[in-house]
Amino acid sequence: MADTQEIILSGIRPTGRIHYGNYFGAIKEFVRLQEEGHCCYYFVADYHALTTITEREDFFNQTLAMLRTYVACGLDPKKSVIYRQSDLPCTAELTLLLGMITNIGFLERGTTYKDKFAKLVEAAGAAEAEGNPLSYGLLGYPVLMAADILIVKADKVPVGDDQRQHVEMAIDIAQRFNHRFGETLKVPASVPRHALRLPGLDGSGKMGKSEHNTLDLLDDPQAVLKKIKAVETTTEPLPLDVETDEPDVVIPRMPTSVGVLYRLLNVVAPEEVYLDFVGKYRRGEKFYGVLKTTLADYISKFNAPIIERFNAPDNNDEFVIDFLRENAKKVTPVALETVEACRAAMGIGLSLYRA
Ligand code: TRP
Repeated sequence: MADTQEIILSGIRPTGRIHYGNYFGAIKEFVRLQEEGHCCYYFVADYHALTTITEREDFFNQTLAMLRTYVACGLDPKKSVIYRQSDLPCTAELTLLLGMITNIGFLERGTTYKDKFAKLVEAAGAAEAEGNPLSYGLLGYPVLMAADILIVKADKVPVGDDQRQHVEMAIDIAQRFNHRFGETLKVPASVPRHALRLPGLDGSGKMGKSEHNTLDLLDDPQAVLKKIKAVETTTEPLPLDVETDEPDVVIPRMPTSVGVLYRLLNVVAPEEVYLDFVGKYRRGEKFYGVLKTTLADYISKFNAPIIERFNAPDNNDEFVIDFLRENAKKVTPVALETVEACRAAMGIGLSLYRA
């Protein structure tokens, strides 16, 4: 048990396969917090996914596959409360209540919304964008996210850098609510800047499913080798000009796609292997072939137990559906308490039928 038990909450949008960016940017931290004995709520943000959903038929199966991967990574539905957002529909009720005190101008500053809107204006010209076709759900994305967080009274919300602003917005909404209606909502802490952001295999800024540049936890050795071999290494090494071997100093000095290989090596291989290859780089040796096969090997070794647990006979859809049901039952009373408190604070009063 942790000295002080904190309430932790985080969510991930459902995508079938979990990649290294998800793992090292979020899931690894989820498992660590779980093992520290905090009260952890982890959920699949299926309502949020409706803002972008394209593969409707496969959606539910993707959600299940993702949860099986969570379990394979060490998240334990007996230690953490793992549920589906849509199995806690009172989140939608809280979203509605919070929406009443949230300005449109505030939401228009949300980066996700702002970026989509800017792209639209760019593509269609400002005139077209006047009849703004973006959805109410997309604009309200941060309100739904605030409801997710506030409904379980979370102290901490471990997320990657790209979600920090959303957590800040949740803090803001909670403070506004408390200011207006009296202390009702727990205000969570800000997210410290430390999450590791893995670059994509193409050397671009970020590994992401929509960027098609991911290394996946369930990739088998053949797939791993193929992806790693395809990473661009034709560029000449650039001089490092520093003595330290610290990844955060050394890697940004390398050509970007070479840096990707070193970043991955640093997270999956023992330190001496990483240091050995930094040495080879400094000496300007020809080593990219060996670097790639060595790295691919470590990645496959890292993936092997996860693939095995993913395919374990007891880690099946039925198991996942059962724990989702049980965990939804656990989180519901906690969530309803918050919703009822907000109803009372806002003046509509407690539900007349809900226990
Ligand atoms: N928006 C998050 C993402 O895209 C997922 C998410 C939804 C979330 N609700 C949340 C994360 C609440 C943390 C807390 O990754």
